[in-house]
Amino acid sequence: MPETFLDSLVSADPAAVTPAARQQATTHASASRKPDVMVPIRSLGENHRARIASHLKALDKHDRYYRFGFSASDDQIDRYVNGLDFERDEIFGIYNRSLALIAVAHLAYAPDTGANRSAEFGVSVLPRSRGRHFGSRLFERAVMHARNVGVGKMYVHVLSENTAMLRIAGHAGATFVRDGAETEGYLSLPPATFNSHLTEMVEEKLAQVDYQFKVQARQFRHTLANIQQAWRGTDSAEKSG
Ligand SMILES: CC(C)(COP(=O)(O)OP(=O)(O)OC[C@H]1O[C@@H](n2cnc3c(N)ncnc32)[C@H](O)[C@@H]1OP(=O)(O)O)[C@@H](O)C(=O)NCCC(=O)NCCS
Repeated sequence: MPETFLDSLVSADPAAVTPAARQQATTHASASRKPDVMVPIRSLGENHRARIASHLKALDKHDRYYRFGFSASDDQIDRYVNGLDFERDEIFGIYNRSLALIAVAHLAYAPDTGANRSAEFGVSVLPRSRGRHFGSRLFERAVMHARNVGVGKMYVHVLSENTAMLRIAGHAGATFVRDGAETEGYLSLPPATFNSHLTEMVEEKLAQVDYQFKVQARQFRHTLANIQQAWRGTDSAEKSG
């Protein structure tokens, strides 16, 4: 039976939710909502394949189970990553200052069935970068992109114990259908607007600029380290000479 996110948070039995408890949960949820900070999320292409594989392999067994529904081995991750179709699907990522891929989301489109396009969302954030709303931001970004390409429904398959993912989808207004250990969440998306197209375009451009800055900063750090090493080499050669 469909269950709202609020119900699942407050009680296993929706009928037992009192207005006071509902109010408390709503207040808690809105009080802990993320600050309005822009996170540079960029669309990833073919040249990021190896880094996507490294990102996923950095997840432990438990996280892989949450992400894929089974504890994927490194070989299975390689097969998944090699099978990613960057032309058909959309892959989003967040890079940190050292150019480590700390979060990845995959928006996979269902085979085109005409008017009712749908897509499935999957995401992972490296443990050390969690709790900073990167998962939520990637979900929002995927929703915006899905709308902009005419998707009407976005699905997420989650293990019922995966509170963080349930919260992410729940805040966005997903409806959940629980089936034992698994829960399917779905979100009906409104049609795209001029504003949603413009926002996505601007966010993508900013994320690409941010990425280029990080690449240049890393090159600068390498150059600086090489110069320092060369100086040290000259210094010790002079002393010994
Ligand atoms: C699920 C996952 C992507 C969340 O990433 P994240 O960046 O830490 O998530 P956010 O910071 O956006 O947090 C989302 C919400 O969950 C809550 N949350 C985060 N971690 C939580 C945890 N361990 N237990 C309970 N709630 C948690 C946050 O407080 C936040 O709630 P709020 O918006 O009401 O404050 C990350 O934990 C992960 O990669 N897990 C392994 C893979 C996975 O489960 N993928 C999802 C299935 S596709």
